[in-house]
Amino acid sequence: MLSKKMEKALNKQINAEFYSSYFYLNMALYCESIDLSGFAHWLRLQTQEEHEHAMRLLDFVLSRDGMVELEQIDKPKGGFKGINDVFAQVLEHEKMVTGLINDLYALAVEENDYPTQVELQWFIKEQVEEEKTAKDILQQLKWVGDKDTALFMLDQKMGQRQLASGEEE
Ligand code: FEO
Repeated sequence: MLSKKMEKALNKQINAEFYSSYFYLNMALYCESIDLSGFAHWLRLQTQEEHEHAMRLLDFVLSRDGMVELEQIDKPKGGFKGINDVFAQVLEHEKMVTGLINDLYALAVEENDYPTQVELQWFIKEQVEEEKTAKDILQQLKWVGDKDTALFMLDQKMGQRQLASGEEE
């Protein structure tokens, strides 16, 4: 069974994952508004992934006889200043989430809560991937610079993203 402290911290993370989903959706809408439909597609899939992260944690809490209490989701950040700014914000956001996951893990260690440690190891690995992906895309955008043709091609490539089987596991 989860301690009350751990249960509360996991509930907070569930809310943070739902916020991430909402934030990515806001970025997808921005990309639609500047006619980058490939980037919008990529971000919509990211929205789905974040939703899966929230559900995964939610199911974990339930499986440990914990209570899930859904809280209000904050209005997502907006006011993007171009596609480079979007991915700079993605990277910052994922770094922040990595910090939250690390703090949760530290709490699970402090409490000798081994099942929660094991569950969080999946998230720790996922964060390494998410930060790397954001960094790679940001780098590609820097190479593109102000060349419209290159941006067009990158947008096409982003539009080809599919949810890999197991990506939402
Ligand atoms: Fe659920 Fe992007 O971390």
